[in-house]
Amino acid sequence: MGDEAKKPIGVFDSGIGGLTVVRELVERLPNEEIVYFGDTARLPYGTKSPETVLRFSRQNLSFLKEKNVKLIVVACNTASSIALSTLVEEEEMPVVGVLLPGARAAASATRNGRVGVIGTTVPIRSGAYEAALREIQPGIEIWSLPCPLFVPLAEEGWLDNEITYLTAKSYLEPLASFGADVLVLGCTHYPLLTDVIGRVVGEDVTLVDSARETAVEVERILAERGLANPGDARGEIHVYVSDVPYLIREVGERFLGRPIERIERVSFQ
Ligand code: DGL
Repeated sequence: MGDEAKKPIGVFDSGIGGLTVVRELVERLPNEEIVYFGDTARLPYGTKSPETVLRFSRQNLSFLKEKNVKLIVVACNTASSIALSTLVEEEEMPVVGVLLPGARAAASATRNGRVGVIGTTVPIRSGAYEAALREIQPGIEIWSLPCPLFVPLAEEGWLDNEITYLTAKSYLEPLASFGADVLVLGCTHYPLLTDVIGRVVGEDVTLVDSARETAVEVERILAERGLANPGDARGEIHVYVSDVPYLIREVGERFLGRPIERIERVSFQ
């Protein structure tokens, strides 16, 4: 273990929703320094073509590499479902997506082999979660649904009001007749809606938070490769974005669960 372990962890997302992953990383690995990049000028990724998502993801990864990081987390379900395998192939350092950790946790949590997956449109329509779940457990039955309206509701801070409840009810009622005992929250924004989603699906359905499972996976990889930061000082979090939209700090702090000291704007052009 040398200086390598003292380097920061790089995290990118299409916007600031990926701060839910940073929140979990900070929870598990408080002494790790984190460099976060949110591509706020170009979000959402969930409606873009695969070529564009890959091109943006490569640029985001290069930016983090310039910050001298030791591991990169693709904290975006869209980029994880479209671009991750290419990034892993092209890159020498570990690159971790949010999709596989969530799929693994779901496969081990289900008792009846019936799993629900929700996310934004592209990751759900891409079938990436299905493919990952079937690879882990071939006979698994999957119900999946894009729930795009959860994204603006979480950004608005409408975490558990009547409108959010009714939206969740209308999306998730079919899950009961399918009989899933696990539901994967396959979008960066959804962990904020855990209470309302839990109320709708009932306590017999285990909610799998991809952000939390990703932090578990990062901890495992760092330990395995001798890359865990040996220091005991609290790691800093550096937040970079490609645009500074209205209310970014307020929304970002809701996702991160703590104040953001500084938000720096960067441009790739
Ligand atoms: N961060 C994205 C995800 O997890 C949601 C927002 C977007 O579509 O860019 O899929």
